[in-house]
Amino acid sequence: MVNNSLLVLNRVTKVFQIGTLLSKVRIYAVRDVTLEIGKKPVVFTLVGESGSGKTTLANILLGVIKPTEGYVSLLGKNIESYKKSEFIKLVQPIFQNPYETFNPLKKVEVYFRSVIHRLGIANGSGRTAERIIDEALHSVALSWEEVRGKYPHEFSGGQLQRLSIARALMVNPVLLLADEPVSMLDASLRVFVLNLFRKLKEERQLYIVYITHDLATAYYLSDHIAVMLRGSIVEIGPAEKVLLSPLHPYTVLLKESVPNPHRKRGEWLSFQAREERALEIEEYAEQGCKFALRCPHVKDVCRREMPPDTVVEDAVVKCWLYAKNP
Ligand SMILES: Nc1ncnc2c1ncn2[C@@H]1O[C@H](COP(=O)(O)OP(=O)(O)O)[C@@H](O)[C@H]1O
Ligand code: SF4
Ligand SMILES: [Mg+2]
Repeated sequence: MVNNSLLVLNRVTKVFQIGTLLSKVRIYAVRDVTLEIGKKPVVFTLVGESGSGKTTLANILLGVIKPTEGYVSLLGKNIESYKKSEFIKLVQPIFQNPYETFNPLKKVEVYFRSVIHRLGIANGSGRTAERIIDEALHSVALSWEEVRGKYPHEFSGGQLQRLSIARALMVNPVLLLADEPVSMLDASLRVFVLNLFRKLKEERQLYIVYITHDLATAYYLSDHIAVMLRGSIVEIGPAEKVLLSPLHPYTVLLKESVPNPHRKRGEWLSFQAREERALEIEEYAEQGCKFALRCPHVKDVCRREMPPDTVVEDAVVKCWLYAKNP
């Protein structure tokens, strides 16, 4: 792997131990994830069901959680060797709930100025701070007039998410890491915020890691997609390729399970209940492919051994169906 790529994850694993001294359960929240985000600004999307390990991986990328094994490097340097103040200026998070980003007791403008001051970007009360805030607001299509003197609760959810993106932009990062940033917004605002990410990628040459459980927004926004299942990446490649002609049986199921307006509600609910039961059982299946219990193509080897990663054209897929020596 080229070490001057923006971001490299090398065999990253995170195990959580839960339970008492007598009965400990090990949860592989992230399992042996290796990937690289290259040299050209891209929207790289991690897509997977709830519990697949997306937020754990996001926290590892933010340096909030240390991996149990493996490492992450940013611009050729292990993220653990960055100073906190240095790292925070390179990677900025956008969270699901914009209300949590802001202090409810502080006017948004005051909060912005304190961020600029605290991070040593400029004097918080000076002209430079005013210009930085102005630029950031402009990038998210808001203006001083709309913001001045207002507290967080005076904004709608969509406006506040745009303000949290503006806050992230003030430090001029290279990477935005957005974990389910539109899942709490109304459908019409979702498209607005997704378009904003696209625009920022083009205009500011930003890299964006977009994390979602929603295939439709993933398709709309992404250049590259990695599909996560139970902590592992099972398919990775160009967005069009992965979502229009998926290879892994799990990606195929994800695509089919996008709620179809023509499917009757009862059918949809029973489909969901079946999926949830299968997921509960899979928690305890330690060996082999994590999809074996639900896979229509399962073979003996799938239950015994974890499939290897196989390159198929410009995608990589973790499934015995594609392995060179099954
Ligand atoms: N702090 C923790 N302690 C124990 N288990 C955790 C912790 N954080 C996450 N997990 C478990 O790790 C798995 C992945 O969780 P998470 O990364 O939140 O998934 P996602 O964001 O895809 O929904 C889940 O089984 C979850 O219960
Ligand atoms: S490895 Fe086997 S069980 Fe897993 S997805 Fe492929 S065919 Fe299905
Ligand atoms: Mg999550």
